[in-house]
Parts: sequence; structure tokens; C-alpha cells
Amino acid sequence: MEQKKIIIAIDGHSSCGKSTMAKDLARELGYIYVDTGAMYRAVTLYAMEHGLYQGDRPDEAALEKAMPQIRISFRLDPQTHVPRTQLNGHDVEDRIRMLDVSARVSPIAALPFVREAMVRQQQEMGRQRGIVMDGRDIGTVVFPSAELKVFVTASAEVRARRRYDELTGKGQAADYEEILRNVQERDYIDSHRAVSPLRQAPDALLLDNSAMSITEQKAWLLERFRETLRKMGK
Ligand code: DC
Repeated sequence: MEQKKIIIAIDGHSSCGKSTMAKDLARELGYIYVDTGAMYRAVTLYAMEHGLYQGDRPDEAALEKAMPQIRISFRLDPQTHVPRTQLNGHDVEDRIRMLDVSARVSPIAALPFVREAMVRQQQEMGRQRGIVMDGRDIGTVVFPSAELKVFVTASAEVRARRRYDELTGKGQAADYEEILRNVQERDYIDSHRAVSPLRQAPDALLLDNSAMSITEQKAWLLERFRETLRKMGK
């Protein structure tokens, strides 16, 4: 019997390994993986490249006008089968991970018209189900009725260290203190913004992975998936 496909919502703080575990799980299950943070990052990159800023602040009117021109899509890497973010047809996967984009993304992700446009696209992507989506508001706003919701967290220091290792591992220059400040700043903005603040959905399972290995997380998540299917009687 064909297994029923479900929606898996993975929310949590930045740099806590959400994407790695969500990506792995999607590959294991043959589900589609969507990194919604990448979508907000791509909008930010567009604003940076088109000078849609007034000093340090996004030029909201100009960005709102430009929204219909911003097309975000994902293309599967033929080798790794992991989706790579495309902005108006250009591969921006590596560019959007750099620190200048990270430092500017939170204010952009707090704009209601940006969120509306992204959430609409995300809900469209989940229509066929069989999707693992990671972000901040997936279990609360995008798919409040997702069958499996996980809220992931880890201490700010552990997360800054992981981000630092990731950047230096790619040969990019990185400063641990600067990254830690960036992680803390984003936590604050993400959980205090007026629209869709980061919070755990009441029915989400909490995963603090500060002291967990990737293998342990993976096993934990797969078990939650199986449990969900069992409860649904599949
Ligand atoms: O997960 P990330 O670090 O790539 O996310 C980038 C930014 O986008 C971060 O400031 C939080 C924000 N974001 C959001 O507001 N809603 C989402 N669903 C995903 C990310």
C-alpha cells in the first residue's frame, strides 16, 4: 500500500542544524525539501544588488514595488540532489550564505508584504504534500495543520561555533565573535518582530540539539516520523 505523504514543519533558531537535518530527512523519505530561510535571503540579496536601501534600512516602498520582479525557485543539484536557490534564474545558493546577506536578512524578513508573498509561494509548494519545510513560522503560519512539527534549538555559542566551522570549512574568512553577535541579534529580531515572530507551536516537538550528534538527531527525527505515521494509522 502506498504510504500517505505528510507535511513536516521544522522551525527553530538560526544555525542550529535545522537545514542539515531537514535535508537529510527529505532525502531519506523521498520528500521535497524547502529551505524558506533561503527565500528571505534571496529577497535580501535582490534588495542589496538593486540598491533598495536608504542607508542601512530597506527602502520599503521600492522593495514592495519590486516584489513582482523577484522570482525565487529551487533547482536540484544533479550531483547531490539537494535543491539550490535560484534568483531570477541565477544560482545564488553560495552568495546568500555570506555574512553580508546574513546581517541584512532579518529586517527584510520582518516586512509584512515580503512575508505574505513568501508564505503564499510556500503554501503552493506544499500542495502535493510529501514535503519537509524548514523555517521560523512553518508550523505556526505556513502549515498550521502539518502532521509533524519540530522546533529545534541549541545554545547561541554552539550555533555560532557551527556557523564558524561551516564558513571556514568552505575556505571563507570568519570571526567567531562577530558570528556570535550576529546569531544573538537575529534571535532577538526573529522572536520580537510584530509579524510571525519565531515561537514554538503548541503541538510542536522540542529538540535541543546542543549536545547531539547529527546521527543522533537523524535517528530521533526518523523515529518521530514513524511515530506520526503510526498515530495516523498508516
Ligand atoms: O534560516 P536562515 O538563517 O537561513 O534564515 C534567514 C533569515 O530569514 C532569518 O533572519 C530568519 C528569517 N526567516 C523567517 O523569518 N521565516 C522563515 N520561515 C525562514 C527564515
